[in-house]
Amino acid sequence: MEAVLLPKSWNVDQILDDLDQHGFSIIDDAYSSEYIHQLVEECTSHLNQFRDAAIQNGIVSNIRSDHILWLHEELKISHQHTKTLYTLAEQFNRAFYLGINNVEAHFACYNSGEFYALHRDNPQGKNGRIISAVYYLHEDWQDDWGGELRLQDKNDQWHTLQPKPNRVALFQSDLLHEVLKAKHQRLSITAWLRHNDSIL
Ligand code: OGA
Ligand code: MN
Repeated sequence: MEAVLLPKSWNVDQILDDLDQHGFSIIDDAYSSEYIHQLVEECTSHLNQFRDAAIQNGIVSNIRSDHILWLHEELKISHQHTKTLYTLAEQFNRAFYLGINNVEAHFACYNSGEFYALHRDNPQGKNGRIISAVYYLHEDWQDDWGGELRLQDKNDQWHTLQPKPNRVALFQSDLLHEVLKAKHQRLSITAWLRHNDSIL
């Protein structure tokens, strides 16, 4: 993947330290307002293509009720974010020898009443996901709109994180977490910095 620079607000030393100490890290004010506007436009103009995340290979699960759209290179604006995460992954590889060689990502939309119950993104180290990165791209969020990310850190402490606009939540994909029921439309890009055997 083509190299891009990290935005100035991404403090790599702090992120590496947080991940090392707690297994998660938060980046606020991640992108410029111009970029956010373009991203919101790209996301909301494709909402009619989102599908039920609960249905996979024809099997319906009841642990989540959000809607998703996998990113691809034609979604040019969001692809920039994927490339930025790839640059960050190279720093993780350098610091922690993680062997990340791929980033997969989807838009997610939680309408009012939708949630994602307790889960791990990589339960038994089986699927190659190493770090989860959730970027919140709705332009406004109030504290009483629900939709918090609840996460158990690597020292078993629980944290309740607001899906604040322009925030990235990074966490180890093996950690237990959930998305509480949203009371307003909640838009995000969920990405996984992962290891793919097939492209090694
Ligand atoms: C997920 C997830 C967290 C969030 O998509 O797997 O846990 O805050 N998302 O959206
Ligand atoms: Mn998850």
